Amino acid sequence: MNGKLKVGVVGCGLMGHGIVQVAAQGGCQVVALETEQGALDKGLARIQKSVEKLASKQVEKGKLDEAAAAKMVEETLGRITGSLDKQDLADCDLVVEAIVENLDVKKALFAELGGICKPETVFASNTSSFPIGEMAEASGRADRFVGLHFFNPVQLMRLVEVVRTDATDEEVFAAARAFGEACGKSPVSCKDTPGFVVNRLLVPYMVQALLMLERGDASREDIDTAMQFGCGYPMGPFTLTDYVGLDTTLSILEGWVERYPDEPAFQIPDILKQKVSEGKLGRKTGEGFYKWDGDKKS
Ligand code: 3HC
Repeated sequence: MNGKLKVGVVGCGLMGHGIVQVAAQGGCQVVALETEQGALDKGLARIQKSVEKLASKQVEKGKLDEAAAAKMVEETLGRITGSLDKQDLADCDLVVEAIVENLDVKKALFAELGGICKPETVFASNTSSFPIGEMAEASGRADRFVGLHFFNPVQLMRLVEVVRTDATDEEVFAAARAFGEACGKSPVSCKDTPGFVVNRLLVPYMVQALLMLERGDASREDIDTAMQFGCGYPMGPFTLTDYVGLDTTLSILEGWVERYPDEPAFQIPDILKQKVSEGKLGRKTGEGFYKWDGDKKS
């Protein structure tokens, strides 16, 4: 992968739209792939709003004048093409998957892409917690496969975890790190382990907060305030779980509990299952542990 890349991003939802945006901001030509026009339009509209917001902040800070900011917005959006057809990914240098957290669905996607994309195309999954090795195997090109795990909101969070399996080619891994840097992120390298670095630490922490609430040790507001003001975290664990999505958190935990039943850090609080069964998935559905009005707690 050299020079200006052509990058495909499969899925234009919560994570995918952000990955499309940071790749385009980094100078890549990006194909944003969705399964339905409505979902694609929604993702592209979010990108436009976010790019405009970031540009206006640059003007506020005096880093860009109005004309340069408008040019930046136009150039970034001009690098993005929406598509509903996987064939449009055939000549991409890199394809990043950011679809639903379901391993069978992801494996089927990579098997299909393995037959569509040119042999040199590098594949990456943005999975939070599934084994990269299993998807790599399904793709038929395990040596050209990495994990590229971005964080929510992708536009603002500075980390990307770059995950290698035993089969990942060294040059492919280096190119994946370079792509992360081009997206404006600080890459960290990690082996193909459950949750990589961040989620292996973060999700058990969120679980402990939920168990604390279930036991009645403290209220959700007090637990959030404690971690915000006691540890300097930008948001407490309940706000963060709402932010990440209760369904995403549950699906990570279900996968781990099934694969690693003897790991005591991996357990599923009843309150999480209950909220998800009620459709209270967090910010994205307007209610989780808190009520939300768009991006803000109401
Ligand atoms: N695009 C552009 N601008 C955005 C934006 C976006 N997507 N999202 C927020 N902003 C802007 C806001 O409009 C706001 O602008 P303003 O200052 O002009 O009003 C500014 O950014 C700051 O946002 P907020 O006022 O909402 O509040 P904060 O100062 O708290 O910053 C935050 C928001 C960066 C999200 C911060 O709260 C934070 O760092 N929270 C922790 C998030 C976190 O831990 N994420 C990782 C989750 S784990 C994960 O993703 C892994 C997965 O696999 C589970």
